[in-house]
Amino acid sequence: MSDRGTNRRKLVVGNWKMNGTRSNLSEVTLIAQAARDLGKAEALLCLPGPLILAAKDFGLPLGGQDCSAELEGAFTGDQSAILLADVGAKAVIVGHSERRALHKETNDLIASKARAAWSAGLSAIVCIGETTEERENGETLDVLTDQLANSLPDTANAQNTIVAYEPVWAIGSGKTATPSDIETAHAHIRKHLQNRFPTGAKMSLLYGGSLNASNATQIFSVANVDGGLIGGASLTASTFIPIMRALDAGA
Ligand code: PGA
Repeated sequence: MSDRGTNRRKLVVGNWKMNGTRSNLSEVTLIAQAARDLGKAEALLCLPGPLILAAKDFGLPLGGQDCSAELEGAFTGDQSAILLADVGAKAVIVGHSERRALHKETNDLIASKARAAWSAGLSAIVCIGETTEERENGETLDVLTDQLANSLPDTANAQNTIVAYEPVWAIGSGKTATPSDIETAHAHIRKHLQNRFPTGAKMSLLYGGSLNASNATQIFSVANVDGGLIGGASLTASTFIPIMRALDAGA
């Protein structure tokens, strides 16, 4: 069942991770051009910080991939949400599984980062998702409940927050969750959002994990999927634009 007709934001978010230099900005130009022709769907590209500044006038909404929970100060190497907003970002990813795993980020820290993003005027794209082990132990829905309860602050709403469900085992692996797994997880997440937040029914909920041009149409037709968070396939215009169009065609 599709969500055609719901008034939630339909969004394709690219995440370049730690890839790209200024020599790749031609890809952003092409993506920006294609984004102008979209109807209801929107595209947003989360770039490494310096590339946000370099691409800020291309006409494509841009985002960061992480921010500090602090607004400024002696935090060597960290990046503030205020600076991200200043160089042109509209949003920032927080709680990506690579940050949770490689930088030991906790739900509490991620909630603080979301609040920092909001105070800088950015939307927070809050990522949640179970690991292989949690999935094999049958803990997927409990893990999602815990991450939602603790990494989404109580003041989250449909304007300031986008939730991304990314099963960790599907990220960069070429394995995607089945439509039925996605439907179950997204229904569970939607229920939490609706029960907890006055605008929970209107919050955009993205799927991420090995999304590409071949599986996008099927995944975007699953109930409660309002778009995607795309890593590898967002690095080139030729692989990202078909995903943007797939969402737009069903929106
Ligand atoms: P992938 O990454 O599309 O390369 O699997 C998704 C993500 O990490 O956001």
